[in-house]
Amino acid sequence: MKKPVRVAVTGAAGSISRALLFRIAAGDMFGKDQPVYLQLIEVPQAIDALRGIAMELEDCAYPLMHSISLHDNPDSGFSSAHYAILIGARPRAQGMERSDLLTANAEIFSVQGQAINRYANPDVRVLVVGNPANTNALIACSNAPDLSPTQFSALTRLDHNRAVGILSSKKSCNPQDIRKVIIWGNHSPTMYPDLHHAMMHGNPVMPQIDTEWYRNSYIPRIQKRGAEIIQVCGHSSTSSAAQAIIDHMHDWVHGTRQNDYVSMSVMSDGSYDVEKGIFFSYPVRCNYGRYQIINGLTLNDLSRDYFKITEQELLEERDAIRHLIPTDFLQNLESYGSQTTNNNVPGHYLGPRKINDRI
Ligand SMILES: NC(=O)c1ccc[n+]([C@@H]2O[C@H](COP(=O)([O-])OP(=O)(O)OC[C@H]3O[C@@H](n4cnc5c(N)ncnc54)[C@H](O)[C@@H]3O)[C@@H](O)[C@H]2O)c1
Repeated sequence: MKKPVRVAVTGAAGSISRALLFRIAAGDMFGKDQPVYLQLIEVPQAIDALRGIAMELEDCAYPLMHSISLHDNPDSGFSSAHYAILIGARPRAQGMERSDLLTANAEIFSVQGQAINRYANPDVRVLVVGNPANTNALIACSNAPDLSPTQFSALTRLDHNRAVGILSSKKSCNPQDIRKVIIWGNHSPTMYPDLHHAMMHGNPVMPQIDTEWYRNSYIPRIQKRGAEIIQVCGHSSTSSAAQAIIDHMHDWVHGTRQNDYVSMSVMSDGSYDVEKGIFFSYPVRCNYGRYQIINGLTLNDLSRDYFKITEQELLEERDAIRHLIPTDFLQNLESYGSQTTNNNVPGHYLGPRKINDRI
């Protein structure tokens, strides 16, 4: 049996966590031979509800679940964590302006970034799920000066999985037969689901689909799928979000399958001329806890148009919370890409090499 890894989860009494925690404990995220400590973090008002979830986890007697601890503060919650999954976020209240929402969340994620920097394992991998996920990841990362930005990511795997699932339904094929779908940009309705590089049964997808359907039906449907779920179900995605979190972390840790890539929001290093210093969803390949942005793909005019819209939105989000980004972080951005310019080289993955060596 391997040594247990510590997995910290915020928003642990929320809807997504209720679907997620049992699957982490069952070994779906890190493997059937990897024991876990669960460090569950909530706001003080939700600790009673969290206690109930912890009791149910205990009652499942999962062989891989080493122990559970409950925390109402991030400092103890992230202590020695190897993985941190940041789900808890402030929802948009009635009458709240978008900039107020960005600021309210930026305050939460700056505190969590500082706590991760101080108390988590130095090799920690952080996934931000709580919305606005890309900008929350930027805030957390910029408040963790001792860690590499490559240790942070935000979730666009749900959008990626939706893009695969909806295409496979349309073409009546198995999702496994679809590869190289890309979500570019923000986890928001400006995201761009790109099928120009995608393959189905080993052949390019674009000649196999109707261009009108792709532009006028498929793209807007993926972009607005979150709202569609809320309209139909009365609440936002839970099980599919939990599955996407499992997939994202699993692939980051264990690697992307052969001849495929996945979408992950990571710190832009200037690839595809995206401004440095925003979390942007790119096609990546992962290997042992590190990722590599896939470079060199051609963007046609349609793609470039979509691309600019989503990049612009992320720059505006960043400007709205700029006052909470430490100045040093912004000053160091220029040199950031220089570590990553050779990322076309096969095997050049970003991030600390070892993940579990300091327990
Ligand atoms: N990136 C994505 O693909 C994606 C997909 C689905 C949902 N989301 C986002 O994930 C977030 C959570 O969704 P949910 O359905 O679980 O929401 P929820 O409201 O059911 O649960 C959120 C939980 O977070 C807790 N929380 C709030 N602030 C916290 C803090 N500072 N520290 C610790 N816990 C805190 C709340 O008490 C609550 O229990 C939302 O922001 C949602 O928009 C993102």
